[in-house]
Amino acid sequence: MTAPTLSPALVAHLPTGMLVGGHWGPAAGGRTFEVADPATGEVLFDVADATADDGRRALDSAADAAGPWRAAAPRERSEVLRAAYERITARTDAFASLITAECGKPLAEARAEVAYGAEFLRWYAEQAVRADGLVRIAPAGANRQLVHRRPVGPALLVTPWNFPIAMATRKIGPALAAGCPVVVKPASATPLTTMLVAEVIRSELADRGLPTGVVNVVPTSSPGDLTGPLLGDDRLRKLSFTGSTAVGRTLLAQAADQVLRCSMELGGNAPFLVLADADLDAAVDGAVVAKLRNAGQSCVAANRFYVHDSLAREFARRLADRFASLRVGPGARDGVDVGPLIDAGAVDRVAGLVDDATGRGAQLLTGGDRPEGPGSFYEPTVLAGVDPDARAVREEIFGPVAPVVAVADDDEAIALANATEYGLAAYAYTTSLDRAMRVSDEVEAGMIGINRGMVSDASAPFGGVKASGLGREGGEAGLEEYLETVYVAL
Ligand code: SIN
Repeated sequence: MTAPTLSPALVAHLPTGMLVGGHWGPAAGGRTFEVADPATGEVLFDVADATADDGRRALDSAADAAGPWRAAAPRERSEVLRAAYERITARTDAFASLITAECGKPLAEARAEVAYGAEFLRWYAEQAVRADGLVRIAPAGANRQLVHRRPVGPALLVTPWNFPIAMATRKIGPALAAGCPVVVKPASATPLTTMLVAEVIRSELADRGLPTGVVNVVPTSSPGDLTGPLLGDDRLRKLSFTGSTAVGRTLLAQAADQVLRCSMELGGNAPFLVLADADLDAAVDGAVVAKLRNAGQSCVAANRFYVHDSLAREFARRLADRFASLRVGPGARDGVDVGPLIDAGAVDRVAGLVDDATGRGAQLLTGGDRPEGPGSFYEPTVLAGVDPDARAVREEIFGPVAPVVAVADDDEAIALANATEYGLAAYAYTTSLDRAMRVSDEVEAGMIGINRGMVSDASAPFGGVKASGLGREGGEAGLEEYLETVYVAL
C-alpha cells in the first residue's frame, strides 16, 4: 500500500533496492524490511534489507571508484553536485511528499527540508574547487614547505531518520566534493528519500560518463551486522555518523581499531535561556520554532527552558497558548502544524517523560495526551514549575514537550545550561549585547542562537562539544572532514 500523497510517477520510479556498483538490486537472499507511514502505521514500501556481505560489496564498489573519483577534476565533481542540486530542487514537491510519507513532518516543513538539504549540494559544489593548500619558506630558510590536500578515501555515512534528505546531503555533498566515494547506510525508518537522492546523483554520474560506484546505498534493518565488518575493513578510511550518543560511542569504539577518521554528530539537550531583559514575544516565537520543528525530533531542538523568575509564569502561559492553537495530524493534510512522532515507541517514551515530570510536581499547562486514532501522535505539551532533576530536563526528549524551569539570574541559567554531558545547540534571548556575549563565551555548546530559534544553515559549521560529538558538518569545516593534509618538505 502506498501513501495517497505520493504521485504514481514517483512510486513507479522510486528505488527500493540497494545501490551497489551503480546498479539498484535486491539484497542477498532477497530479504526486505517494511517502511511504514508514522501518520497511519500503514506499510509504504518493502525495502532491500542489506546483509554484511552486501555491505562488503558496496565497499568493493567504493574502493574501485576511489582512484577514478579522486582523479576527476574538482570542477567535474562540482558540476555533478550542482546538477544534483538543480534536479532535486526542480522536484521539490516529489521529495517533500516522500519525506512526509516516511518521516511524518508536515508538507511545508518537508519542503523547507528539501531546500535545506539541496543547499548542501550547492554549497559543496562551490567548495569542491577550493580544497586549498599552502607553500611557504621554512622559518630557518633552508627549504620550502608544500602543504596539500587529498581525499581521505572511501567513507561510511550513517544517517538518522529525522531529516532524511538533509542529513544525507550534509555528508554526501562534502565527501563527493573532496573526492571520497561513499557507502551510505540510511536509517531503516526513513531510507526512501535518501535512496532517491542517491538515484539523482547516480544518474548524473552515469550521464557524464563518471564512475557510478562512487555512491552506494545499503539500507538494512540490522545496522550493527553491516557496520561492524565495514569498520573493520582496512579499505574504509572514514566514518561519519549522526545519531544517538549511545550508538556513537559503540561506533567510535569499533572505529578505534582501524584508527578511522570519525565525524560524530550525536545527541543534544539544548538549553533555551530567557534572560531577565528578553523580548518576551520574540522569545515565545523562537521557542515555538526551536521546540516544534519536526515535532521536536531534532538534535538541536530546545529541550529545557530556563526562564528568569520575573518572566517564567508569563512565558509558560503564552507558550502554552501557542502550542494549544496548533493543529496536530498527518503531515500531508492541509493546515496541519505538527505531525506524528516516528513510531509508537517514541510516543511511549515521551509520555513517560511527561509522567515523570508531573509526578515530581510539574504543572501541565497544555497537552500531555495522545490523540485518539491511528498513527503515533503526541500533543504539543508545556510543563511549568519543572524540577531541574526531572528526566525531561536531563534526557533528550525528541518530542513536542517544553519543560519550563524558573531561574533566579544569569549565573543560575548558565550553570544549569552547562549541567549536562551534552553540548550541541543552545539558545538565549536577551536585549543586552553584554549578556549575549557572556552566553556565547560561557555556554558549553557548539552552536548558539541569540534571539533566534534556528541555527541550521548549510554554510555554517554544525556540530557539538562534550558528548554531543566530534567534528563539524556544513560550511568550510565540513569539507575538511573528508580531506587529509599532506606536508612535503622541498
Ligand atoms: C539533527 O537533528 O541532527 C539535524 C537538524 C538540523 O540540521 O537542523
